[in-house]
Amino acid sequence: MGLIDEIGERLDALVRDLESSLQGARSDDDVRARAARIVGKKGELTALEKRIREVPPEDRRELGRRINEAKARADRIVEARLAALRAEARRRELEGPALDVTLPGRPRRIGSLHPVRQCEEELLDALQALGFEVADGPEIETTAFNFWKLGFAPDHPATCMQDSFYLRDDVLLRTHTSPIQVREMLSHPPPVRIAAPGTVYRRDDDVTHSPMFHQIEGLLVDEDVTFADMKGILTLFVRRVFGPDTPVRLRPSYFPFTEPSGEIDIGCLICSGRKVGCRVCKGTGWLEVGGCGMVHPVVFENVGYDPERFSGFAFGMGVDRIAMLRFGIGDIRLLYENDVRFLRQF
Ligand code: DAH
Repeated sequence: MGLIDEIGERLDALVRDLESSLQGARSDDDVRARAARIVGKKGELTALEKRIREVPPEDRRELGRRINEAKARADRIVEARLAALRAEARRRELEGPALDVTLPGRPRRIGSLHPVRQCEEELLDALQALGFEVADGPEIETTAFNFWKLGFAPDHPATCMQDSFYLRDDVLLRTHTSPIQVREMLSHPPPVRIAAPGTVYRRDDDVTHSPMFHQIEGLLVDEDVTFADMKGILTLFVRRVFGPDTPVRLRPSYFPFTEPSGEIDIGCLICSGRKVGCRVCKGTGWLEVGGCGMVHPVVFENVGYDPERFSGFAFGMGVDRIAMLRFGIGDIRLLYENDVRFLRQF
């Protein structure tokens, strides 16, 4: 047998090897890896090709033809195996469980209002129903509006650097929404009936105090406004928010800008007055939801209202605290961690 026939037989054998080897290939990559061993750069067929130099010149043409033919067969075998694998995959998919196109899709989660914002809206809705108009003011305030015009004495603890966030000597992050009262009265003659929501800032940070929190301020000024009007309107307001049978009481207190002043308590939402062992009202049966009082004559003088002619009342409540009571949240910091697993519950 001449060299050319010997090489020719080797070529045939390699193509057969390739064919049987590919039967065992289970993936496209596997097919290509097995093919490379024969027709790749370092493959056996490629090595044989180099032997063309060994055959006499008159036989080279014939050997070249056989090599090309072998390569073409190898290519067809590879393509056929790849096609077979694809067909097999398709068949398996069709034989598998049917794709149920009537299954409902996966709905996208729609966000919801933050629990503090939900509460704020409820409180404002109730106040608007009672005729209050929404007002607002800046979060960066002057000490004049935040303290002095509201009758704070210079030695009041809230005015000191340890308790409030100052930007300059006479500018700070407002510590309450009460300066909105001052702004409103300075810019409007009586009567006034406003509800002012907003973010406020204090140097506090624990389970029930956050350095940033929310208040809603109310102010009503007119002729002949009495303490009884205050109690009546606050009672209506609280019952609109917490339910028609909610007990309400006013407890004596002190604020520089009101006289007399009170704390607004409602019957405990958790134990409904059963008291014993209630951790939320600490066994008192009452929950404090805000402060209130008759506007102090000094405040009227500071804004140019005649205290002989006009009277009024004001109140302020902590929205975060009410949200915590409402939703049974024990730690105020949860409200500001922006953990969606927490927020999704409301
Ligand atoms: N500004 C008070 C505070 O932050 C809350 C308050 C109390 C507001 C009595 C009022 C009021 O308008 O009359 O503690």
